[in-house]
Amino acid sequence: MTDTRSLIDNDRQHVFHASTHLRDYAQGDAPGRIITGGQGISIVDRDGREMIDAFAGLYCVNIGYGRSEIADAIYAQAKELAYYHTYVGHSNEPLIALSERIAKLAGNGLTKVYYGLSGSDANETQIKLVRYYHNVTGQPKKKKIIARQRGYHGSSIAAGSLTGLPAFHQHFDLPIDGILHTKAPYYYRRERGEMNEREFSAYCAEQLEALIQREGPETIGAFIGEPVLGTGGIIPPPEGYWDAIQAVLKRHEILLIADEVVSGFGRLGSQFGFQHYGIQPDLVTIAKGLTSAYQPLSGVIVGERVWKALEAGTGEYGPIGHGWTYSGHPLGAAAAMANLDIIERENLVGNAAETGAYFNARLKETFGEHPLVGDVRGEGLMAALEFAPEKGEYTPFDPALKVGARVAAAAMKENLIARAMPNGDILGFAPPLVIDRAQVDEVIGRAKRAIDRVTDELTRSGDLKV
Ligand SMILES: Cc1ncc(COP(=O)(O)O)c(C=O)c1O
Repeated sequence: MTDTRSLIDNDRQHVFHASTHLRDYAQGDAPGRIITGGQGISIVDRDGREMIDAFAGLYCVNIGYGRSEIADAIYAQAKELAYYHTYVGHSNEPLIALSERIAKLAGNGLTKVYYGLSGSDANETQIKLVRYYHNVTGQPKKKKIIARQRGYHGSSIAAGSLTGLPAFHQHFDLPIDGILHTKAPYYYRRERGEMNEREFSAYCAEQLEALIQREGPETIGAFIGEPVLGTGGIIPPPEGYWDAIQAVLKRHEILLIADEVVSGFGRLGSQFGFQHYGIQPDLVTIAKGLTSAYQPLSGVIVGERVWKALEAGTGEYGPIGHGWTYSGHPLGAAAAMANLDIIERENLVGNAAETGAYFNARLKETFGEHPLVGDVRGEGLMAALEFAPEKGEYTPFDPALKVGARVAAAAMKENLIARAMPNGDILGFAPPLVIDRAQVDEVIGRAKRAIDRVTDELTRSGDLKV
């Protein structure tokens, strides 16, 4: 058998990795790792090292690793029909069952599902639908889309433009025209100490209103947001945020897109984030938890208002010019059905609520007064610790200290995977929804040892006063 080292050397020669420091990796200055298996909340690498994956891959392996039931469903479907397209009314049985099921879970008049393969491509579809909708309803100027600073919606050209993180724009000439960003609902970093959460939410809504007025309400087609900001720092909305935002959008007849790529199918302790926060979206983006990443599959759930326009538009102009070879792929649909069966049977949405509440309480109790931790936040099975040199009002560490990355590396030494979020000293947690209380305790214990170690280092170097 080839030894792991030569395999990684080979990898360095030929694999172009996502979100990687390409030079360091190619030159051997950044570590490589070959993952060979997983069970429950843990993965194992080729050297037999077992790690708790407290980020569920990229917050997607919601049913946990090693569920052979999904492999069986994919195999059975592949033997029967591995592929046929879904153009001009062609369908397949798992796809029909899945679409009906998603519509039932979503409710609220969200009845039709268009399928893709990734969150990014689903948000490309969203942008096209916004344009089509306003063109065929006679408002051709109403095309701009407002996203949020720190939002994450993908990394393709248009979806990457919706993303509000500088690293995804710099050197790619993004964002493209017609995509705007409004204030992130980031209460901890509100820069105005005297505001309570509700006041801060009202302030975010005012900022949105001001942006709309500057641009002209007749030019704004849609607003897109994740119910809980994810990659931008795992930031649950402050109290009253979504009500305040929706009032502004209603006033100006702006479509609302809920990006549920992370929150869909249970992560917040509700089936969808829009149900959790009383959001009434026109369009919903889904991916990750739809198949728990056992197959690539994404979707756009379309509500009545947009659907009516799509029917009317195609009635006038002919079939819609949007479709991909793999839209509605039967293997993805079969995997999704088996995944949703597990989520339902094992009540994983309920577990995300209950064990999520336990997880958040344990985080607060363990790290609320910790000298390295400035903020503890979370909802369901999504949580974050933000590191800061002082309590109270937010002040950052010197970015050169790389505190977030150092904590994640120290956690790795404890065989715990938690994610250093890309913008700020933030450690993110989003474990598989199958996690139980004993496993939460284990995650907290390992995180505590890692954080204590970095705290010692920073204290000794004089960068933290305890
Ligand atoms: C909220 C959200 N939307 C969209 C995406 C993009 O999905 P993908 O990476 O599958 O293109 C992500 C990915 O993390 C996401 O978190």
